[in-house]
Amino acid sequence: MSEKKVYKIAVLPGDGTGPEVVAEGIKVLEAVGKRFDIGFDFKEYDFGGERYLSTGETLPESAIDELKNFKAIYLGAIGHPDVAPGILELGILLKIRFVMDQYINLRPVKLYPGVDTPLKDKGPEDIDFVVVRENTGGLYTGHGGITRKDTPYEVASQVMVYDRQMVDRCLKYAFELAVERKKEGKPGRLTLVQKTNVLTYVGDLWYRAFIDMSKEYPDIETDYNHIDAACMWMVKNPEWYDVLVISNMFGDIITDLGAMVQGGMGIAAGGNINPEGTSMFEPIGGSAPKYTGKDVINPLAAIEAGRMMLKHLGEKDAAKAIEDAVSQICTELKSLTAGKMGLSTSGVGNRLVELIS
Ligand code: IPM
Ligand code: MN
Repeated sequence: MSEKKVYKIAVLPGDGTGPEVVAEGIKVLEAVGKRFDIGFDFKEYDFGGERYLSTGETLPESAIDELKNFKAIYLGAIGHPDVAPGILELGILLKIRFVMDQYINLRPVKLYPGVDTPLKDKGPEDIDFVVVRENTGGLYTGHGGITRKDTPYEVASQVMVYDRQMVDRCLKYAFELAVERKKEGKPGRLTLVQKTNVLTYVGDLWYRAFIDMSKEYPDIETDYNHIDAACMWMVKNPEWYDVLVISNMFGDIITDLGAMVQGGMGIAAGGNINPEGTSMFEPIGGSAPKYTGKDVINPLAAIEAGRMMLKHLGEKDAAKAIEDAVSQICTELKSLTAGKMGLSTSGVGNRLVELIS
């Protein structure tokens, strides 16, 4: 008998409604694990706002070494109303992305059947693309500073930094993803989104690197959009997009637009990927503290993050089983908005378990 595969997963439920949605995600992963004979060894960590408020600690150094030993990290949400903005984001979320070198932020934008999109006359056949956001460089590197602080002559700068290697590895991931999608019957089209008309250094670096690499992928159709135009096209003609590749801050912004296009934060998930190391999967909405403990928050985004994690681990059939179940439940729910779903948070998890088992 072959030995059952067991994946070691670090779980960071985090703040607010994070623990509630992660609990449903784990429920669904366990169900799919049972069906496909996959085991999970979950270890929970309490990093987040509460721990910071009581100990002053965000993410201790020892934790970082420990996290590297896991196959993946499953994150709920980081963000606490009593903690000043930036502390937890920088100290936990961005810290993990940086030290684990999770240089890709993968954000699928797929409209499931039955889900309302604010885009008039667009349906699931029009909205199915993936944003590959560069995740460790650009404006997020913290290059810059403040001088003459608190004087009328104060100067602040925050610099968009990229080197060729960072750009190349991100483009490579995006081209390979386009190849994979083409095999699945998708268009196999990669669009670089930048702002070459203004960012004549950084934009130009991305553009030249993109053109160079495109020569290695003659079967992949390539296109270029300025970021402002891409915001327009994503609303007007989302069917044009298959895979988008984009630098960090532009990608942060456009993926919130993408999340709305696919039905809102209730369903939008992302993966912070280090293709050679430990990756982290999360719902992309916040901790939604006002809904904490009410059993009304939509757990589908966290469940989708779990699905992405399985796919990343190579468990394609199990991931597909979650996708089919999510697709089904989307036709049954009244809405994806917290409190208006027609089911409770745990009710959604239970129904998915029923569909999967
Ligand atoms: C996201 C978030 C983070 C980001 C914040 C919380 C630091 O908005 O994951 O998109 O800017 O990347
Ligand atoms: Mn964001």
